[in-house]
Amino acid sequence: MTSSTHDCCILALETSCDETAAAVCALDGRLLASRIASQAEIHRKYGGVVPEVASRNHIVHIRPLVEQVLEEAGIPLENVAAFAATSGPGLVSSLLIGTSMAKALALAEDKPFLAVNHMEGHLLSPFMGETGPVRPCMALIVSGGHTMLVRVKGVAQYEMIGRTRDDAAGECFDKVAKMLGLPYPGGPEIDQRARGGNRAAIDFPRTMAGGRSFEFSFSGLKTAVLYELPKHDLGNARVLADVCASVQEAIVEVLVEKLIAAARQFGERVVTVSGGVSCNRRLRECLDARCHEEGLELLLARPEHCTDNAGMIAFAAVQRFRLGQTSALEEDVDPNLPLTA
Ligand code: KG4
Ligand code: ZN
Repeated sequence: MTSSTHDCCILALETSCDETAAAVCALDGRLLASRIASQAEIHRKYGGVVPEVASRNHIVHIRPLVEQVLEEAGIPLENVAAFAATSGPGLVSSLLIGTSMAKALALAEDKPFLAVNHMEGHLLSPFMGETGPVRPCMALIVSGGHTMLVRVKGVAQYEMIGRTRDDAAGECFDKVAKMLGLPYPGGPEIDQRARGGNRAAIDFPRTMAGGRSFEFSFSGLKTAVLYELPKHDLGNARVLADVCASVQEAIVEVLVEKLIAAARQFGERVVTVSGGVSCNRRLRECLDARCHEEGLELLLARPEHCTDNAGMIAFAAVQRFRLGQTSALEEDVDPNLPLTA
């Protein structure tokens, strides 16, 4: 395998679900280019992601994206030090497109390949923009498929503190939005409509908010919403705003309080929040206020790095590459790839 003094960056691909993304990250952690070809409009009419449709569209978009990010970064292909791709968790037929492309480039250029865990991409995304080492922290990951509290000691040193027993926070936003007749993905729709709504209008359950458990459960909230809805006139924008604000408040409160309790119990002074749900304005507002009160340092990814993107995959790959880690070309995709052993 060749390596020249000009090798300066990693090219990473993200195709775990419905977004096709490519990015170039310098080996010092600076993001040089990042692009996404979103399929949200295509899947919206089905009310969710159709795997077959997603993988076919990845094939269409992936090559032009690779060319675009290299051009934007001003890096010739031969100066890419390694090629990375998300290898799980996600949809197998989608994961295979990104990993096959990255492996083909690695083989053609005689450079290493890195398989990246999508959740590690989210986990490290709040550190993007910092060129120093990843710092110890208590991390909350809130995406469409996962809700996890992870204690981070450093890169590749992760301890699972708690996770959801049923639905993920993003899934709960999406399912409630569907019940309300709002389009997919539902999180941003609820976020938008909750503005100006009365957060105390309906007292939805805060499951497992108290006590010492760091597990999450959102299915009870979903059921509570289902029983509550017939009592309200959702055609009235003010009523809809109140329902959205009340559901959002129940989700946000549980997330914020568990993260703070976990940081306190394990003595961490830095907390991070990542994943699509971390775009949520009310969540960011509450985190700011509570972390300030508790004297905790809060790190949030920029909104464009919260939802799926390849920048976070490239950044995670750079961290692993700096540790001297690479992956075998034989390494397969894994739809259920765990973050911790
Ligand atoms: O991390 P992500 O892009 O994909 C996964 O890895 O799952 O997260 C997508 C999730 C969806 O459930 C979406 O509704 C939610 O993030 N989301 C939001 C917001 N923006 C995206 N949830 C609440 N408020 C938002 N502003
Ligand atoms: Zn994600």
